Amino acid sequence: MVIWILIFLGLVLAPSCSYSVSNNTRYYKTPTAPSPSPSHSSPPYYPILKKGKKMPPPTPPLPTPPPLVTPFDYFKLVETWPTSFCLVKNCVNPPPPSPVMRFTIHGLWPSNKTNPQPRDCASNENFDFLKVVGPSLPLSDFRKFWPNLLMVKKTDEFKLWRDQWIHHGKCSSMYAKDFYKLAFQIYLKKDLKAILLMNGITPGGTEQESQKIFDAIKSGIGGFNPEI
Ligand SMILES: *[C@@H]1O[C@H](CO)[C@@H](O)[C@H](O)[C@H]1NC(C)=O
Ligand SMILES: *[C@@H]1O[C@H](CO)[C@@H](O)[C@H](O)[C@H]1NC(C)=O
Repeated sequence: MVIWILIFLGLVLAPSCSYSVSNNTRYYKTPTAPSPSPSHSSPPYYPILKKGKKMPPPTPPLPTPPPLVTPFDYFKLVETWPTSFCLVKNCVNPPPPSPVMRFTIHGLWPSNKTNPQPRDCASNENFDFLKVVGPSLPLSDFRKFWPNLLMVKKTDEFKLWRDQWIHHGKCSSMYAKDFYKLAFQIYLKKDLKAILLMNGITPGGTEQESQKIFDAIKSGIGGFNPEI
């Protein structure tokens, strides 16, 4: 049984959506844009003038322009149950079944109630994943909660995270960093496994009726219809 849980989270993100819809002006700004250059992140250096007077501090860099605004209806958080996923996909390092196994994040998808779905919203510019993650988005969280189960070589590690930004995140009208952060926030707020366990649905062994899973998740996430 493959479980791709697609959860409707329109409510949580309503402000972002209404903003997108209310202003359809498309103005482009690469969302990778520039964290401050290294010279700005090092301690400021003010040349000393005569009599110890300091130069006025340098004018701050121009604010980063906002990302491309794209209209969409709601966000969908897509999660994977690793054991089921690896039954149908060629996982290189399938996680061993374990009582501590949890759903993992696949992606956060800006979505529309009806087709067409937003996707690949801006040019495929060079996106440096490591420049985006920082102390507030530790790689350890990505590895733990958002693993690439299809990872073949070590360099593939960033591929899932990068691809999810390029195909979906860029349609979110958010900066990459905020986009990833939001995915983690929603994921951690609603623990699907806990919701299922509370409803007597346990992993492994017996087959489960998908309607039962649907109902449990729907009530666990505040009445939104999941896609299974
Ligand atoms: C939409 O956004 C653009 C770009 O920032 C701005 O110039 C314009 O005034 C906005 N329009 C509305 C209706 O808010
Ligand atoms: C998604 O829906 C919004 C309206 O809710 C629409 O403006 C937008 O064009 C749609 N996206 C695509 C890719 O068609």
